[in-house]
Amino acid sequence: MERHDNGLETLPSWTTQKKLEMTQTHLTKINVRTLQKMKEANQRITMLTAYDFPTARMLDDAGVEVILVGDSLGMVVQGKSSTVPVTVEEMIYHGEMVVRGTKRAMVVVDLPFPVGQLGVHHTLKIAAQILKQTGCEAVKLEGGAEQSDAIAALVSAGIPTIAHVGLRPQTVHALGGYRVHRNEDQLKRDASAAENAGAFAVLMECVPAETAKLISRDLKIPTIGIGAGNGCDGQVLVTNDLLGIQEGKGPKFVRQYTNLRTIMTDAVTRFRNDVQSGDFPSSEESYLS
Ligand code: KIV
Repeated sequence: MERHDNGLETLPSWTTQKKLEMTQTHLTKINVRTLQKMKEANQRITMLTAYDFPTARMLDDAGVEVILVGDSLGMVVQGKSSTVPVTVEEMIYHGEMVVRGTKRAMVVVDLPFPVGQLGVHHTLKIAAQILKQTGCEAVKLEGGAEQSDAIAALVSAGIPTIAHVGLRPQTVHALGGYRVHRNEDQLKRDASAAENAGAFAVLMECVPAETAKLISRDLKIPTIGIGAGNGCDGQVLVTNDLLGIQEGKGPKFVRQYTNLRTIMTDAVTRFRNDVQSGDFPSSEESYLS
């Protein structure tokens, strides 16, 4: 509020309001150091996916620290059977909307297949393009030890990077399905190689809880789990799973907090019934001459 000579208070002007918002945003914006401090203070990190502006706003308002523009959008938004077909242009299209809807959370955009497989120079070029065109703060790259050079190059170029180890959905065709990764030595090697290369966090997908706990204890950087038990420094879910938008039963690790699919279908059915019966629109919902 601004106080005037006459003692009256008015709402702040647009410029004052904007300055206030910018100061608050600046003060509270989550960055790599915030997440590192959260690990050191034993505070759990929350990460969720978003692919559009309104969802990003809701997650940000709810206090989620990291918003991931995941290539899972290929499955949950585009209805495809894997993340493999997702393109760089699509990641930028969705990433840009999410960044526009976010004030406080850190926005991380996935590097889609096969960006990480075409050499360090290519990975760096695409990651930089994503950062520049979306305004996001970080990228996520599938892989651990074999991606050390790429992670080191991204980090030395000033691009904060999360390594994604364990189940890597971009390799689903080679794996022959989505399965739990139980090779503890390999998982430990991948996670510590990612840390040594400069990753600011490691995401572990479908990893036995005990292994994920050991890795989280050994690494200095935060770990974020999905299907990796309760011993990680943070947790991530695909928002569409959590909200019950997807059809059918999701994987074992999903906790569905509501059933938006039923709620939305019910609302749309009621609208259709009201249109058919002539109940919509009422005179209150119409303009008078
Ligand atoms: O693309 C995605 O949504 C992910 C999650 C599985 C974490 O990588």
